[in-house]
Amino acid sequence: MKKNNVYIETYGCQMNVADTELVKGILKNNGYEMTNEADNADVILLNTCSVRDNAEQRIYGRLGNFKNLKLGKPGLVVGILGCMAERLRKDLIEEKKIVDVIVGPDEYRKLPELIDVAFNGEKGIGVRLSRTETYDDIIPYREDGLQAWISVMRGCDKFCTFCVVPFTRGRERSRSLDSVVEEVKQLSERGFKEITLLGQNVNSYQDNQNDFADLLAACAIVDRKMRIRFTTSHPQDLSDKLLYAIAENPNICNYIHLPVQSGSNRILKLMNRTYTIEHYLNLIQKAKQIIPGVSFSTDIISGFPTETYEDHVMTLDVMREVKYDGAYMFKYSPREGTKAYKMEDDVTEEIKTKRLQEIIDLQQQISFEKNQSLIDQEEIVLIEGLSKKSDKFMSGRTDTNKVVIIPADEKIEEGGYVKVKINRATSATLFGVPVSLVNETDNKLALTA
Ligand code: SAH
Ligand code: SF4
Ligand code: F3S
Repeated sequence: MKKNNVYIETYGCQMNVADTELVKGILKNNGYEMTNEADNADVILLNTCSVRDNAEQRIYGRLGNFKNLKLGKPGLVVGILGCMAERLRKDLIEEKKIVDVIVGPDEYRKLPELIDVAFNGEKGIGVRLSRTETYDDIIPYREDGLQAWISVMRGCDKFCTFCVVPFTRGRERSRSLDSVVEEVKQLSERGFKEITLLGQNVNSYQDNQNDFADLLAACAIVDRKMRIRFTTSHPQDLSDKLLYAIAENPNICNYIHLPVQSGSNRILKLMNRTYTIEHYLNLIQKAKQIIPGVSFSTDIISGFPTETYEDHVMTLDVMREVKYDGAYMFKYSPREGTKAYKMEDDVTEEIKTKRLQEIIDLQQQISFEKNQSLIDQEEIVLIEGLSKKSDKFMSGRTDTNKVVIIPADEKIEEGGYVKVKINRATSATLFGVPVSLVNETDNKLALTA
């Protein structure tokens, strides 16, 4: 019997989502088929995340589930891909008998070979990191749709003291501008309407003389009816040139994910974030001047070692000042091998939880107020399809990434742009009525006119 059905589950960040598509591309080229049901699979792969302890615990739980499956199907191959494969290789090999294949983010080309090794009863292991691998020549396998992720660089050189990513993903390296633009063209031809360029720190993208602003601009002119997004920007190297590129290209979304992590300069220093809050707030000010209507989202960690109540209040103050449109908020989780791991994890679980809840509550209040202020305004919405809750409604997004619900109308197509007048808002969703079908992708032109 030919063993060739692969089932993949993906955890962690969007880089992993993009990597899973890459892995599918590689496996399909080697004669494997994909299945959406673990029960039908000859190979089960988990593309994993190590960023916080709870991410890893989920995977251990999942491996427990697959153990039973394997008992009834001894030939089944189970593999761990991604950041946990890189971080925990030894433990996984020694302690998790159920794991047959362990492949880190820079060795996916070897996956078909390593799966064969596992079919022959041995462990298939590939965990070397590379300084050059970008998978530039591999076409990721994507289902048709409106939205696609493209990774434009891999790795991270920042070494924030809390973060495991530089250890699991290795050094920074960029894909060529031409290969990224070519991928955007292909996606445009297939009818995709929104592309997100991905990297742990896209601002350090470099391909010969081209920097990230050049790459964004080159992607934006491919198809002006395609929205271009990007993530993540590190506050240290967000350049004026990049801000102008966003302002000058109507289809680059007015939305910047700019993780602040903490509002306290003392904590930022301990985190090795390499900027001060003054620098950060200046940047926000400048972006608001250069890009009318720009909005921001952020990441925040609560309870980093030595964080005091005063430090915590400074974080709340920054949130009030910037008024983020969205935030990803986490409790500090010590990661072995990082610099911060050597510091005492001295903020108690109880205090971490309490501070995190205050941060979440404040963000919810800010999101609610920001959304209320959009009532009676017009927004350009990319229609994504019928609303999940009812087929009497359609759902889409603004260029600032807010979900908008409108009454369904047969004249309005999935993938089309509609000008919508907002008439109601919660902290998570806008509701409105269609005004007209439009060609533009965002409100920028209207705002600057
Ligand atoms: N490269 C991106 C984000 C990578 S990880 C950036 O620098 O912004 C995503 C987020 O997870 C980080 O921004 C941080 O807020 C959070 N994070 C990373 N390590 C963490 C840890 N040890 N404990 C809690 N949160 C963490
Ligand atoms: Fe981690 Fe910092 Fe790199 Fe982001 S910039 S991936 S937080 S080390
Ligand atoms: Fe997680 Fe690795 Fe992404 S640790 S956040 S999957 S880079």
